[in-house]
Amino acid sequence: MISGRTQLCAILADPIAHVRTPETFNALMTARGHDAVLVPMHVSTDALPTAVAALKAIANLAGFVVTVPHKIAMVPLCDELSGAAQIAGAVNIVRRTAEGRLHGHILDGDGFVAGLRQSGVEPAGRSVYIAGAGGAANAIAFALAAAGVSRIGIWNRTRAKAETLANRLRVAGYGCDMAVEGADPAGYQIVVNATSLGLRETDPLPLAADQLTSDQIVAEIIMKPEWTPLLLEAKARGCTVALGAPMLDCQLPMMADYLGLTA
Ligand code: ATR
Repeated sequence: MISGRTQLCAILADPIAHVRTPETFNALMTARGHDAVLVPMHVSTDALPTAVAALKAIANLAGFVVTVPHKIAMVPLCDELSGAAQIAGAVNIVRRTAEGRLHGHILDGDGFVAGLRQSGVEPAGRSVYIAGAGGAANAIAFALAAAGVSRIGIWNRTRAKAETLANRLRVAGYGCDMAVEGADPAGYQIVVNATSLGLRETDPLPLAADQLTSDQIVAEIIMKPEWTPLLLEAKARGCTVALGAPMLDCQLPMMADYLGLTA
């Protein structure tokens, strides 16, 4: 029941109709006993600064979730950024303080690692191949390094971005081996798609899936479709697969905690 005391939360996206966060977040609020509600807000790229300025002015707003295509554009609109958001150059959760300041953070990396563990895959000590070098890939690479993987290989269409990410990881000093790779994931224990490829039916595969072998684990960040062409190919080749949905499912309690709506 929404009342005058209800705290507001939102999710900003374009398109919006596919988002699952309102259902899951609101169920979590009920379970945690908070008088808070999260609503979907369809905001275009052009309108993002105006929408964020308006949200900043709303005193009973706890904060908001930010997703495609706003994760990078949200960075300069925040007053403060967490270390993870600075590293990733992207934001997916924003807390509004009582003074009306916006704190941006990204939970994609921690959510991905928690999702892998929920799928029964422990990344510590393993070698990981990551396809992609955008916002999500950066967040995931740093979280995997922090989780203690032994080696990270990065493959990206734009090679310079893969090199930049590899160098940033080396400088961060996690102690794992770093390499820039081609499209072939051979020799890595865990293979991750951290590109946006797989969202659309017409997308090419994000890596050379015909080189996958049954001893490899293939993890996806795409949630819809649940079974991307990459996962279908991996399954057909006998690989262990980890679906994309747990990455977001595991982030929800972390997002609520970040907004102060703790258990
Ligand atoms: P996100 O926040 O979801 O990571 P992003 O920062 O735009 O979004 O990154 C998208 C990733 O998918 C990038 O690694 C991008 O490769 P480029 O850096 O070369 O652009 C990758 N990607 C998107 N479309 C692609 C395509 N058609 N072929 C290959 N890679 C693609």
